[in-house]
Amino acid sequence: MEEELIGIKNTALSFILEAEDLENLEETKLQFLGRSGKLTLALKEIIKVPVEKRKEFGLLANEVKQTIEDAIEIQKSKLKTQKLGKIVGKIDVTNPGIKPLLGHLHLVTQAIEEITNIFEKISFEKLRYPEVEWDWYVFEALNFPDNHPARDDWETFFIKGNADPKKGPMLLAPHTSGGQIREMERKQKPPIRMLNIAKCYRRQSDISHSPMFHQFEGLVVDKDISITNLKGTLDYFVKSWFGEKRQSRIRPYHFQFTEPSFEVDVSCGVCKGLGCKLCKAGWLEMGGAGMVHPNVLKAGGIDPNKYTGFAFGWGVERVLMMREGLKIDDLRILYSNNLEFLQQF
Ligand code: PHE
Repeated sequence: MEEELIGIKNTALSFILEAEDLENLEETKLQFLGRSGKLTLALKEIIKVPVEKRKEFGLLANEVKQTIEDAIEIQKSKLKTQKLGKIVGKIDVTNPGIKPLLGHLHLVTQAIEEITNIFEKISFEKLRYPEVEWDWYVFEALNFPDNHPARDDWETFFIKGNADPKKGPMLLAPHTSGGQIREMERKQKPPIRMLNIAKCYRRQSDISHSPMFHQFEGLVVDKDISITNLKGTLDYFVKSWFGEKRQSRIRPYHFQFTEPSFEVDVSCGVCKGLGCKLCKAGWLEMGGAGMVHPNVLKAGGIDPNKYTGFAFGWGVERVLMMREGLKIDDLRILYSNNLEFLQQF
């Protein structure tokens, strides 16, 4: 009798382990523990067991039953997780699709493209002049005499190494104005309509400055170019970039390489020129501009008696931040690789 019980236990366990799915397992359970299951029938034989051995038989029977029940539970949970895995692994074509993540251009790159389009419409030629430059292009040829204190305004990074006997030390361009000289050298003869957009570097880092930033520099040289042409171009850019209702104005200023020099302002988009917390009496500062200094034309190989020109240079990040609706309280976030910020654009 005892052997019979142990035999039942062993077959039951092997059946349970081999059950391939939950239905199979349920059948096995019935086969052994059901009303006419093997174990149930075997237990009914207890009457045939001599009285003195009944207790022992009872204990063994209980143990066999318990073992079979436990094995069934373990196998059941195993089969359930397998079933789940199969569902997950299957492709349900009726499910809504998962969109692949799409990247996009950085918002500064987008701004550069937009600025380029605006100026190309009025036949400016887009170029990108060196960002590692000689002192000659960014200072000397732009009418900054050696050791002139105005050089300090540009907080320049100098590069260690041999200076060129004629062009001086090498440095990281602190502004795009060096492109003016390079363009005059390239073209040799006006007309010139240059748009130089490039990276600039200055030793500064705070909420409105990052050590690397971008400028877009315009240069127009031809016969009879006057302040009127400059003002018209500024107005055209301001309206194209900020919107039809915005205006530009020029204020006297000083740059070594322009004469006269101006600071360009744009009317505030929030208070519409009335004056608010954001602006200075209705105006926001945008950047520098002016009529090209005769010494600069000369340094570029152009006769200042025959030709005149205007130039302007503004920060890409700055005009981006100034655009209505874009409130960035720390400019450096543009270069922080913060995806939450970048994905908005
Ligand atoms: N290069 C000047 C700056 O970085 C801007 C400027 C460009 C001013 C051209 C006048 C003409 O501040």
